[in-house]
Amino acid sequence: MLQRARELGDTIRKSKEVHIVTHIDADGITAGAIASETLQRLGKEYSIECVKQLDELILKRLTNENHELVWFTDLGSSISMEYPGINKIITDHHACEEDSNLPFHLNPHLFGFDGSYDISGAGATYLVSKSIDEKNIDLSALAVVGACGDLQDRRFCKLQGTNRRILADGKKAGVIQNKLDIRYFGRETRPMYKLLQYSDDPFIPGLSRREDACVSFLQDLNIRCKDGDCWRKWIDLNKEERQKIISSIVQMLLTKGFGHKITCRIIGEIYILSKEKPGTELHDAKEFATLLNSTARYGKYEVGLNVCLGDRGKWLQKAQNLLGGHRRNLVEGLQFAKEEKIQKRTFLQFFHAGEGIRDTIIGIVTNMMLNSEEVDSSLPLIGFANTENGDVKVSARTTQAFVDKGLDLSSALRNAAKQLNGVGGGHNIAAGATIPKGKEEEFLEILEKEIKNQLDL
Ligand code: C5P
Ligand code: C5P
Ligand code: ZN
Repeated sequence: MLQRARELGDTIRKSKEVHIVTHIDADGITAGAIASETLQRLGKEYSIECVKQLDELILKRLTNENHELVWFTDLGSSISMEYPGINKIITDHHACEEDSNLPFHLNPHLFGFDGSYDISGAGATYLVSKSIDEKNIDLSALAVVGACGDLQDRRFCKLQGTNRRILADGKKAGVIQNKLDIRYFGRETRPMYKLLQYSDDPFIPGLSRREDACVSFLQDLNIRCKDGDCWRKWIDLNKEERQKIISSIVQMLLTKGFGHKITCRIIGEIYILSKEKPGTELHDAKEFATLLNSTARYGKYEVGLNVCLGDRGKWLQKAQNLLGGHRRNLVEGLQFAKEEKIQKRTFLQFFHAGEGIRDTIIGIVTNMMLNSEEVDSSLPLIGFANTENGDVKVSARTTQAFVDKGLDLSSALRNAAKQLNGVGGGHNIAAGATIPKGKEEEFLEILEKEIKNQLDL
């Protein structure tokens, strides 16, 4: 993989002008920022754009634009064979076919690694950046943010594989620190009761999603919710208070019959961006990733990109303003999906959000739904949402247990979408597709057959 990274680095060095095409999520933005900064430092002429997915229309346009070199980051593995008209390099981590092992394609799957946790799109892009100049190891912090944005720490409650080497670079460069702590989202910026209220991995029956119960829980432990007018955050608590909270949750989970394996997930490795101000979204890798998701998923990718490139003034302010809207959309989306009712079939369950949830966040909502108390996680969950173009966006999520049994949502969605003239792909545990409207039922039928075959049922 490092050899391939060096080869792509050579291609970049030889080019005068490079156009970057990246994905609209946190991993895509960090990947795009790493690529931009690398080219900037090399003094190259470059441009960048962010897309929801690569489709025929975009590829045709790119062919016509006649760039000297197009650098696809966090996407592109599905097209590596096609489009000889585009002179390209690809740094991606999505599942791909074996015949896409081509000299311009860097992807962990081509080297025997699993792109759902070993390395992200930002990580793959970082390997090329580092191969160009060892000084670029400061960009590893962005690669860690990208990996956390894609939930690559989820399987083992810490980053693994190539991501750990990237983490080591970050520590060497003094830009990242790792430590064990509570894994719930919002350690730096969320009021304590909210951190508990939105806890979902592990879900805490009796506390998760219940604001009043979370406030009482803290009161019962004699932990102040506020310091004067300020809500106290996890990082404001002293060691004793943190231990009290963790022991109580552990006890709650164990007495409710959750095993050791699930209960242990409350603690895991967290990643601190050492150069950022404590108590801000930028100090914690997961919070940084969410801040970025609040930008590009709403068509404002330049906001996230400028924050990644170092702006701590007007762009950061804009990103923080967008964050509130993103949070509200997630809460409302989750509520909407719950009211829509999940329909169960033999090999999967699904809901259709119609216009109720944006196609750019249906994946996050589907993920949250599968983690919630109300949804049975013993079947893969499919979420549908209508897109602005009149198509239907599909998001599919499953559990590690299913993946261990042989389920691969990436190939299942890719095959099912292909049969309906759509496009799909992703990872074994999480995948997506776009299909023509009205084809949902047919899609589900094909998908069920795919899942049945994969699991040998
Ligand atoms: O586009 P992409 O690769 O960037 O996104 C990865 C997706 O896979 C994310 O939506 C993330 O939530 C999902 N994922 C997951 N569980 C994992 C790893 C990834 O749900 N263990
Ligand atoms: O959009 P969503 O979060 O559901 O996507 C899940 C995973 O599937 C992501 O890694 C995304 O990049 C991938 N995906 C894909 N092709 C599509 C749609 C999504 O590879 N057409
Ligand atoms: Zn990614």
